[in-house]
Amino acid sequence: MSQKKAAKPAAKKPAPALKTAKTKVAASSTKSHMTENRVFKPSAEFSKNARISSMAQYKRMYEESIKQPDKFFGREAKELQWTKPFSKVLDWKCPNAKWFTGGKLNVSENCLDRHLNGPRKTKAALIWEGEPGEKRVLTYQQLHREVCRFANVLKRHKVKKGDRVVIYLPMIPEAAIAMLACARIGAIHNVVFGGFSAESIKDRVVDSGATLVITADGGYRRGSVVPLKKNVDDALKGNDTTVKTVIVYRRTCQDVHIEEGRDVWWHRELEYVDAHCPAVAMDSEAALFILYTSGSTGKPKGILHTTGGYLLHAQMTCKYVFDMNDQDVYWCTADVGWVTGHSYMVYGPLALGATSLMYEGAPNWPENDRFWRIIEEYAVTIFYTAPTAIRAFMKWGDEWLKKHDLSSLRLLGTVGEPINPEAWMWYHNKVGGGKCPIVDTWWQTETGGHMITPIPGATPTKPGTATLPFFGVDTAIVDDLGKEVGTDEQGKLVIRKPWPSMLRGIWGDKKRYQDTYWSEFKGWYFAGDGARRDKDGNIWIIGRIDDVLNVAGHRLGTAEVESALVSHPSVAEAAVVGRPDEMKGQGIVCFVTVKEGIQTSRDLSDELKKHVRKVIGPVATPDEVRFAAALPKTRSGKIMRRLLKQIAAGEIIKGDTTTLEDINVIAQLVSSGED
Ligand code: WTA
Repeated sequence: MSQKKAAKPAAKKPAPALKTAKTKVAASSTKSHMTENRVFKPSAEFSKNARISSMAQYKRMYEESIKQPDKFFGREAKELQWTKPFSKVLDWKCPNAKWFTGGKLNVSENCLDRHLNGPRKTKAALIWEGEPGEKRVLTYQQLHREVCRFANVLKRHKVKKGDRVVIYLPMIPEAAIAMLACARIGAIHNVVFGGFSAESIKDRVVDSGATLVITADGGYRRGSVVPLKKNVDDALKGNDTTVKTVIVYRRTCQDVHIEEGRDVWWHRELEYVDAHCPAVAMDSEAALFILYTSGSTGKPKGILHTTGGYLLHAQMTCKYVFDMNDQDVYWCTADVGWVTGHSYMVYGPLALGATSLMYEGAPNWPENDRFWRIIEEYAVTIFYTAPTAIRAFMKWGDEWLKKHDLSSLRLLGTVGEPINPEAWMWYHNKVGGGKCPIVDTWWQTETGGHMITPIPGATPTKPGTATLPFFGVDTAIVDDLGKEVGTDEQGKLVIRKPWPSMLRGIWGDKKRYQDTYWSEFKGWYFAGDGARRDKDGNIWIIGRIDDVLNVAGHRLGTAEVESALVSHPSVAEAAVVGRPDEMKGQGIVCFVTVKEGIQTSRDLSDELKKHVRKVIGPVATPDEVRFAAALPKTRSGKIMRRLLKQIAAGEIIKGDTTTLEDINVIAQLVSSGED
């Protein structure tokens, strides 16, 4: 121990204890799960009609999927339509997986064409409702036609197999049409969430080397217009990207700038094309899309997904986890800009020939019952949403639900973050009327589809656990050395075998792919989440153990927010941590030191919040900015996030502070929040 530090008078003071918790402790499942004894078995009626109707059946299938993956997945993959059959199920050289090698298929053909030869031709593929209330239904036949036409528009603009196309659209059918059109001609789409800023678009355009951007004049959100085209204009300012063409869909009809020679209107372009567009046969391992997600360093990573394995997993999970049938009206509330929108609004349900509902706007517009209104009106049978939304509904009160008939629902799902048992129970009783199984699905952008989840006709569920692994998913919870931890002990979640929809890389960064996912434990995929397994084998996800935040189910890197903060001229240094938040799961707290001569003030704190919002997007808006003279650092200069997290959460500082360089810093930080 350093003599220098011991000599400092401040070091003699005990670490300050902070007893005044300002934020209520989060709706986290971690405390209660050790004692959670409520078990909900699927009803006999649900099980009777389900594809998998008992634990014995699940276990048999799971065992086969792990012990004989070639047999299991080879059989399942035959349900896809292959232009050329595959010769081998899996070719695995860690960390590179090739699934269904030799096979050729097209995702859009699987999602559309193959449903046109029977009664599904006239069935609703997409049901859409705009926030202002417009309604559209696209049958499989109509969706196929629109996709073919738009694919021809892309071809007209010289988009070829392997080219990258950025899609920055609101939640309108054209988002699905654009994705499927790219898939049809073998272009790689890169959907950017409409809540991201111009700078975030630019980063993604540049990193992916996109040549074409598809956007709209605007989108509706909570009664106002999000200026999407304006954001694209700002992103492309200076003409220093590879983008040659911007296709603009007219949605909100306000005036927008049209850059001569670059921008064209979607509806005009359609006038030049017909509806005949054969699907290109793609290698099973050809890239399908890139989707950027946050990691623990500043730069978001372009997660790469490919064709055959991804589609199989998306279809299979819709079949077994959502137990989707031709009669179902299925609604996933996720935005198409996140992986959930990709796999579970577009690709999975359409591959299976189901009806997928899409809603453009906010859940509380014009009133708090918009979702329940939609469920009633369209007789939604399967509803998939996020815990953060469920907690908001709970807060808004049961009377909004009571106004509506939700009896069409037969299955509920959640995704995005751990669900706290109170929210689970409310969802079960109030939304599901006590009769619908809940599938709490754990997965990630990287995994492409569900990884740990109940099978609704088989698995006994407990509020707060995602329960058991899906087929082919070999999970383990291990300590730092890779040794499995005991029952109820916390460890790191790893996956020990490749699975069909696993990411195939990080766009343009092989080394980062290897380092991020495959280096902590050799040969195993490291998910970045902490977890425990209870005595019944159920897996309880604790949450991220890296520097990634999960704010209202959205992933954000602390480093991303920090670099946005330090790009402000007043900021010298910043450290960002999550703090438990009753509604959002986690809130964003920023500890900031300012440059010499800068006065801290409430105005500056507001300005910094706005600045982060501008740089990354509204999803990243900080909840709190705390100014400090210095940040707590170890003597080797590392910021002690553990302490900052405790301070942000208003907890008593626990653990070892002996490596801290200057203990005074802590006292200042604690008091900086007490204004
Ligand atoms: C978290 C979203 C607990 C987890 C599909 C993961 C969950 C991150 C759950 C991935 C769940 C997702 N229970 N935590 N059911 N689902 N997570 O990439 O921390 O946006 O690592 O993918 O969300 O977020 P992503």
